[in-house]
Amino acid sequence: MGSEAPIQILLVSYPAQGHINPLLRLAKCLAAKGSSVIFITTEFAGKNMRTVNNITDKSTTSIGDGSLTFHFFDDGLPEDDPIRPSLSGYSEQLELVGRKFLSELIQNHAESNKPISCIINNPFLPWVCDVATEHDIPSALLWIQSAAVFVAYYNYFHKLVRFPTDSEPYIDVQLNSSFALKYNEIPDFLHPYSKYPFLATLILEQFKNLSKVFCVLVDTYEELEHDFIEYVSEKSILMRPIGPLFNNPKIKDASDIRGDFVKRDDCNIVEWLNTKPKGSVVYISFGTIVYLPQEQVDEIAYGLLDSRVSFLWVLKPPPKEVGRKPHVLPVGFLEETSGRGKVVKWGPQEEVLSNSSVGCFLTHCGWNSSMETLTLGVPVLTFPAWGDQVTNAKFLVDVFGVGSRLGYSQIEDKLVTRDEVKKCLLEAMAGEKAEEFKKNAIKWKKAAEVAVATGGSSDRNLDEFMEDIKKHGSV
Ligand code: UDX
Repeated sequence: MGSEAPIQILLVSYPAQGHINPLLRLAKCLAAKGSSVIFITTEFAGKNMRTVNNITDKSTTSIGDGSLTFHFFDDGLPEDDPIRPSLSGYSEQLELVGRKFLSELIQNHAESNKPISCIINNPFLPWVCDVATEHDIPSALLWIQSAAVFVAYYNYFHKLVRFPTDSEPYIDVQLNSSFALKYNEIPDFLHPYSKYPFLATLILEQFKNLSKVFCVLVDTYEELEHDFIEYVSEKSILMRPIGPLFNNPKIKDASDIRGDFVKRDDCNIVEWLNTKPKGSVVYISFGTIVYLPQEQVDEIAYGLLDSRVSFLWVLKPPPKEVGRKPHVLPVGFLEETSGRGKVVKWGPQEEVLSNSSVGCFLTHCGWNSSMETLTLGVPVLTFPAWGDQVTNAKFLVDVFGVGSRLGYSQIEDKLVTRDEVKKCLLEAMAGEKAEEFKKNAIKWKKAAEVAVATGGSSDRNLDEFMEDIKKHGSV
């Protein structure tokens, strides 16, 4: 490094686990490349993050040639405020408080001669780039879903292709000139039957503001999603794939800086996995937001009992504020599966998927989980609930070739029976199909390693992004 002052970058995250994880990983990558990074989210999330992980508010940690500081702000609501679980009400409140907080922070930095060079946000905070524009600071978006899903929203927003409507609910949707999705494979917030239309509105707000960001960073890699990255670039949007962020070798030393909201179960998960034969365990997790109906949990439990496979199952209790009942396992389930199965509330997913005993991931197909499993070479059984998960499941099965379908999206409202669970589990763990899935998964793992290694496509994109920020600063 030369003697020039490090560039200061603000990263602003929506306070949800699936949003914080990729943005925090990006924060560490940018710091490792020499920037001073300030990671911002709400105090409500920050309180959990500090309790569970070894992080503190406003103290600075060195990472590589740069540094990372956390800054949590009060969202102005009491912990049990009834607005909190309402996405629309909460988003309005967050914008109100967040705009003011961010503006003051930028002002303070300018006054203390440490001007902010760039601001990056993740989805659900479309107003961040307005604040950046008001202060004449370049801003970028970290898109935390796939490039293909970005294309779906882009096409919808600009009305470039036909999408299902009330009168034509079952039509296919063209993503680019050579690839179409069926009506039940599109991000289902865009379908007229979606139970969560507000989520489409919230995501599309970002597309309204797209001309204000100079770059869209994506947690994917060129080799995985070339055609969709190219499609976006043809629309004159600078899209830079920089993933898989979690597996970037430059941030290995900072692996203890994490944003988990839930404490890992203290039951030696990795040690237990180490006692199991290679490829013998199925790992089951539905991410941080999806809650299955109790009767679906029952069917999965009986499928596990009947198949007799070894398993590690993350069954997390619902957050207090959503007021749901925790799941109950069938009587005698834990005793009958003792030794071959483990049920936990939260685990170290990256370490779990890296463990050679794990042969398959039964996943809800959130994009973080999808990237983690693809780039650690673990085949999948897909069980999406809604949104982009439905599209990710399609890609994992039919495009990337790393697994088969098990569950249906919530719109389809179908129960997967214990017999289906048993059959799919047994097929996924051994046999010809399982070998094919593993072979493909290893191919994507190797491609991902090359992408994030020094000089690889994602590494170069991150370097070029930093260069772009410096250029903006010097004009
Ligand atoms: C949300 C949306 O639901 C998803 O559709 C979108 O793609 C991203 O935002 P979420 O449901 O939380 O994400 O799932 P996912 O994207 O898979 O993120 C979950 C994260 O939690 C992963 O990084 C995973 O490693 C981590 N995790 C999960 C753990 O560390 N431990 C666990 O026990 C479970």
